[in-house]
Amino acid sequence: MKTLIIYGQNHQGSTYHIGKELADKIGGDTKEYFLPKDFGEFCLGCTNCFMKGEEACPHHEKLKPIVEALDEADVVILTSPVYVLHSTGSMKAFLDHLGYRWMVHRPEEKMFKKQGVCISTAAGAGMKSTNKDMADSLFNWGIPKIYKYGMAVAATSWEEVSEKKLAKIHKDTDRLATAIKNNHGKVKPSAKLKAWFMLCRFIQKNGYNPKDMEHWNEKGWTADKRPWK
Ligand SMILES: Cc1cc2nc3c(=O)[nH]c(=O)nc-3n(C[C@H](O)[C@H](O)[C@H](O)COP(=O)(O)O)c2cc1C
Repeated sequence: MKTLIIYGQNHQGSTYHIGKELADKIGGDTKEYFLPKDFGEFCLGCTNCFMKGEEACPHHEKLKPIVEALDEADVVILTSPVYVLHSTGSMKAFLDHLGYRWMVHRPEEKMFKKQGVCISTAAGAGMKSTNKDMADSLFNWGIPKIYKYGMAVAATSWEEVSEKKLAKIHKDTDRLATAIKNNHGKVKPSAKLKAWFMLCRFIQKNGYNPKDMEHWNEKGWTADKRPWK
């Protein structure tokens, strides 16, 4: 099983340790990327990715290794500490670069068989909105099974996290890793994901962006083919 972790932060604090612990418990091959160290560009808003193709993004070469790792992975873990109730700017800047892969544009069919995990930690609050920031992308990329794990660590560093909280984190990551391993190769799209795909298919049938329409037609999705079959 191949796991990709994209950390929304460079440093190795609470969020890093929880993500790493989960990946270690899942086992297999793990690839890690740290943001912004491994990709720190802001989207320039040129819309080249949407209109001309992702290769026309000014940051394409820098992004390419992460996108290749994304396509190869069975499990995609995104992590972020809560910053003002949301994901870090680094995580958001990375996710912006994959807007072209959203369901309304050109989703990659490999995504429809993967599992995704969103992990966030906060001093006190904001894990729900932070995990949603990341889960919105996983869902719109087409990932059918998404787990969200938020922990209010009541700390600003891993060393400060209490024994009680650490015990809970260890138990929760055990449970999460077991679920992920059990579901490997068995995930199916939910009714919500299928409905969203079908609505986007309808949009593409009456399309407005030739690049997106070409993708849907080539895949056979505007006809009878489906990415999860
Ligand atoms: C810029 C910034 C904004 C933060 N905003 C929040 C917040 O909105 N809510 C919260 O509970 N904690 C907030 N925190 C605290 C961190 O989310 C918390 O300490 C987190 O566990 C840090 O994770 P790390 O150890 O992986 O860096 C903020 C910290 C920073 C640096």
